[in-house]
Amino acid sequence: MPEPKPLYVLNGPNLNLLGTREPHIYGHATLADIEAACAQRAADLGRGIVFRQSNIEGQLVDWLQEARDKAGAVVLNAGAYTHTSVALHDAIKAIGVPVIETHLSNPATREEFRHVSLVGQAAKGVIAGFGAMSYLLAIEAAALLANEIESPRA
Ligand code: DQA
Repeated sequence: MPEPKPLYVLNGPNLNLLGTREPHIYGHATLADIEAACAQRAADLGRGIVFRQSNIEGQLVDWLQEARDKAGAVVLNAGAYTHTSVALHDAIKAIGVPVIETHLSNPATREEFRHVSLVGQAAKGVIAGFGAMSYLLAIEAAALLANEIESPRA
């Protein structure tokens, strides 16, 4: 049996500032706290993770392309690029690996410009509004999807 592929957890702009960034919206957990919690939950489910953050749109596109062969599934919090990036939308469609759009806050309850998600229009599904717990729910969904792909039922 081949090793289960890792779950990629990709984070977009300004998420490096978690912990101090608008804590009334995003909570007090830092990105390092979230990484540790994701690694633990994924390990409980028999998977490793690759956890990354960039403020640069093209870097996120490169990582999505890398995930095409290397990831079992992708948890993507694209931050503000969620609402603007045709490039991320196209990359998600191109790679054929399930991508779970993930947000700490619930963009549907916030400003109107956050109500459109170009990422969500290409993603397998969306988990939003649970604070840092959104990532753990997304890891669970990602692990289940990866299991289905790697060991399809007859
Ligand atoms: C976010 C929501 C986005 O609208 C925002 O631009 C972010 C964070 C979230 O996790 O709630 O940067 O993706």
